[in-house]
Amino acid sequence: MTVSPWWRDAVVYEVYVRSFADGNGDGEGDLRGVRSRLGHLRDLGVDALWLTPFYPSPLADGGYDVADYRGVDPRFGTLDDFDALVADVHAHGLRLIIDIVPNHTSDRHPWFREAVGAPPGSPARDRYIFRRGRPGPDGEDPPNDWPSAFGGPAWTRLPDGEWYLHLFATEQPDLNWRDPTVRSEFEDILRFWLDRGVDGFRIDVAAGLVKDASFRDLAGRDHRVVSGPIYSRPEVHEIYRRWRRVLDGYGGDRMAIGEVWTDGPEELARYLRPDELHQVFQFDLQLAPWSASAFREVVLAALAAVAPTGAAPTWVLSSHDSVRHRTRYERPLSMPGVGTARAKAALLLLLALPGSAYLYQGEELGLPEVTDLPDGARQDPIWKRSRGGLPGRDGCRVPLPWSGTEEPFGFGPPGVRPWLPMPAGWASLTVEAQASDPSSMLAFYREALAMRRTLRGDLPEDLTWLDAPETALFFRRGPLTLALNCGDHPVRLPPGRPLLTTAPLYGDLLPGDAAAWLRTRG
Ligand code: NOJ
Repeated sequence: MTVSPWWRDAVVYEVYVRSFADGNGDGEGDLRGVRSRLGHLRDLGVDALWLTPFYPSPLADGGYDVADYRGVDPRFGTLDDFDALVADVHAHGLRLIIDIVPNHTSDRHPWFREAVGAPPGSPARDRYIFRRGRPGPDGEDPPNDWPSAFGGPAWTRLPDGEWYLHLFATEQPDLNWRDPTVRSEFEDILRFWLDRGVDGFRIDVAAGLVKDASFRDLAGRDHRVVSGPIYSRPEVHEIYRRWRRVLDGYGGDRMAIGEVWTDGPEELARYLRPDELHQVFQFDLQLAPWSASAFREVVLAALAAVAPTGAAPTWVLSSHDSVRHRTRYERPLSMPGVGTARAKAALLLLLALPGSAYLYQGEELGLPEVTDLPDGARQDPIWKRSRGGLPGRDGCRVPLPWSGTEEPFGFGPPGVRPWLPMPAGWASLTVEAQASDPSSMLAFYREALAMRRTLRGDLPEDLTWLDAPETALFFRRGPLTLALNCGDHPVRLPPGRPLLTTAPLYGDLLPGDAAAWLRTRG
């Protein structure tokens, strides 16, 4: 059984470009760095890479503030570097997904500069969302009560009195997707990168493009709710129908995955209609606590959500937006080794599930969240807008340790300080140190991924639940049975021959905080 197209059961590795590998020695990761480390991804055994934004950007939000959608930021390289990367990725037998950021541009994008210089009511302003303030003496209150996802109001006022909308940082003005020039521009941008050979797109803030025309207040409701005026408005689907036609115009199973946060399965399924997106991220596994019943509920709900659409589910444990799962699983009590043991077990769950898995760089090294970054080093707008009240996401974006015993651990040339400081304790977590240690997290990831590759052709796209003790979760997919024990006490394994375990078994007992893959016959 070969699963086709490729993305239905792919393992995709998220490369946070700025923190992956520094090829030009300026302390920040770049495309040359990615090229130089493709061997790591091939040896790891993933199918594809997803590159976070590398476009020209003032980096007010780590590159999710794009000033030019058809270029490469000089810090990250050139278009030639990009073309060479595409060729090398394909030569390594991998696929390439890039991030597209259509909800907002940078405030340095030529369109926004033009809009700011143009008078209220002009077509240049109509590409964004400009409004007058609430009726009152001087329009001093923003047009409505929408908050920025990074804290504070979602509106900023210009000196001429008009306000513009930004669902994220002030430097990320929201585009007006009711303007046809915005729509045609992005279809053109998709073609630009498809022509250069990319295999797919990850669509940032995919549910937010079209706002309710009334711009009504949220009046105390959570801004993310689907029934609200911001996300998953019906008109957003027209956009993806058009994008799908663009993608379908190219050969080679090009795909798109949407970053869609919804509050219900029906809403999620709408994005997966056959003429819309191929996949959407399903984030509930990442949000679930370390609990067999919570995992079971999440898996059931995720499978049920995609079932009517025929799309494959997607799974994720960590990303550049969340606390690394090794650290999440240690909380609230920090017992040494628990996070690592659970992270290994979670990998066996992730890779046993039908559908595709999205890994985040560094999880294969068991990296923890860095919680003690100096204030002066932090860059996340969440940290800045909360005036240090919230730590933000820098702690999961610390550069990768590749080799050696001191900073920058092979991330870049010796002596060059990386853009975020790297903990001294990472000497034992480098790729080099782990590659030669059969008991390392890296060795375990390689083994699990290799085994999944061998088995994948025989795995049906659905699963069968097996009876399990309360603290455990057992399911079977053809020849593969997964057993996960989230409790403290050992549980008896279901039938099967152990193929891979995260901890030594006691006879047929699986210890707590451990998982096993078993081979089942018949
Ligand atoms: C989601 C991205 O993953 C995140 O990093 C970014 O800050 C927001 N979208 C805004 O673009």
